[in-house]
Amino acid sequence: MQHVGTIRIRPTNAKDAEKVATFMRRNWGSERVVSRGRMYYPETLPGFVAFIDDSTVGLLTYEIRNSECEVVTLNSSSEGMGIGSGLLEDVRKVAISAECKRLWLITTNDNTRALRFYQKKGFRLAALYPNQLEKSRLLKPEIPLAGMDGIPLRDEIELEVSL
Ligand SMILES: CC(C)(COP(=O)(O)OP(=O)(O)OC[C@H]1O[C@@H](n2cnc3c(N)ncnc32)[C@H](O)[C@@H]1OP(=O)(O)O)[C@@H](O)C(=O)NCCC(=O)NCCS
Repeated sequence: MQHVGTIRIRPTNAKDAEKVATFMRRNWGSERVVSRGRMYYPETLPGFVAFIDDSTVGLLTYEIRNSECEVVTLNSSSEGMGIGSGLLEDVRKVAISAECKRLWLITTNDNTRALRFYQKKGFRLAALYPNQLEKSRLLKPEIPLAGMDGIPLRDEIELEVSL
């Protein structure tokens, strides 16, 4: 029987920058993220990292501005074990402590797993930005034309939960 250790989550710190950049390259093929026309470098953002034993199994990065908290990236490398939920719970606590009015994020039209996950966690669909990926590709040409499950990658979808 395979032993799976407990999931541990801690805030990222300045020493994690290279780990975050490597995690981004592995999971998204790039160190940078475009959301609503803004470029982000997740290794410069606050975040949380999840471990099982000594392995990094999840990462969330966020930005707080204008009394709102945006989840900029969320990744779990062992799905269905509660890693995504744990990371989301920790950022929700930070956002509440910072007196944010809402927690929000952008996902893309191809990401049906994320749409399922976030809605089950209480997020509501807040906005649709049709063809936004065309604009994002001007800033970040490495964004592929086809996304998850071979679905054309075209639109941004904003999800939110009030705090
Ligand atoms: C979306 C994503 C972050 C979810 O992460 P995850 O670690 O699989 O999330 P969780 O394990 O917390 O929850 C997923 C499911 O597992 C279930 N689960 C939670 N704990 C569990 C456990 N201990 N054992 C088994 N299942 C569990 C949850 O109930 C949930 O199932 P449900 O949706 O039927 O309720 C992950 O799929 C991912 O990294 N996707 C690729 C990157 C991505 O798309 N990120 C979002 C971009 S906006």
